[in-house]
Amino acid sequence: MDNKAITIHRPRRLRRSAVIRDLVAETRLSAEGLIQPYFVCDGSGVREEITGLPGINRESVDKLLESIAEDMKLGIHRIMLFGVTDRKDASASSALSDDNPALRACAELKQKFGEELFVSADVCLCGYTDHGHCGLVDGHGVTNDDSVAVLTEMALTLARAGCDCVAPSDMMDGRIGSIRQALESEGFDNILIMAYTAKYSSAYYGPFREAAHSSPQFGDRKSYQMDFRNSSEALTELELDISEGADIVMVKPALAYLDIIAAFRDVSSAPVAAYNVSGEYTSVKLMAQAGLGDEKALTLENLTAITRAGASIILTYHTRDILKNEWLNG
Ligand code: PBG
Ligand code: ZN
Repeated sequence: MDNKAITIHRPRRLRRSAVIRDLVAETRLSAEGLIQPYFVCDGSGVREEITGLPGINRESVDKLLESIAEDMKLGIHRIMLFGVTDRKDASASSALSDDNPALRACAELKQKFGEELFVSADVCLCGYTDHGHCGLVDGHGVTNDDSVAVLTEMALTLARAGCDCVAPSDMMDGRIGSIRQALESEGFDNILIMAYTAKYSSAYYGPFREAAHSSPQFGDRKSYQMDFRNSSEALTELELDISEGADIVMVKPALAYLDIIAAFRDVSSAPVAAYNVSGEYTSVKLMAQAGLGDEKALTLENLTAITRAGASIILTYHTRDILKNEWLNG
């Protein structure tokens, strides 16, 4: 007998073939957990590609309805709406007006598709203020409680238009509680709140701000969005949002914040969502366009990592490509 050591533990046994690897996979991505974002703008007959977000358009309500009808055939049943308008002022009045394209889209989508389509809508003022901040501004900066009052009105207006879920992305203190109370007192007890709970001040939002015409015209968002050096603070935000009545809690961005997603997964009593943001998406698209990486492989690696970290819901611009190309079917 030779004295070659016997190797009992061979992790490679479980990696030998695709059927075995699929059998023992610990993380499985599924289309049910994906939410496709859309940008809905003023006018009619408008469909323009957003240069910073290859494959994603800005569309007027009529064109949006056509796109979503097509996307539903692919299997997209959960969406997030962002309104884009050039009617901006200091008080974000167009957010609440009847011709806000996001409101019209909610109403028409729910009328046309009913329960077949889960419509969530962004609640924030940055697309509607002339200064581009997510709240109202006074001589001292971005106000909190006055902003919450308008955000609450915006959420109510969206609920009246028929949306299923409001998603406040402003990061003002106390807005979840204020919105929940307002929804309850108007009888909207079935409207979900998906809170942007840990939304960080991030350089990865660049393409979105071009898409939504929502860049701040002065200063930055650091007095309301979180500082990326912090993680315990995200747990404070989590406790607050849950206690104030959030149904779903979100971490944003996703890929540079997998530790925050995992921390939420460990302690959250609510489903955890992650926003795979514009800059993350465009990085993949640009690598693929430059021939430096395979788009399917990059996309599935990223979304699987976000799932593995603990998110059961992912908002991602990749959703349509994943379904159209059947990337989840091997
Ligand atoms: C608006 C909002 C932003 C995003 C979602 N809602 C941008 C921002 O805070 O500047 C970013 C989404 C993305 O980058 O894909 N508050
Ligand atoms: Zn905003």
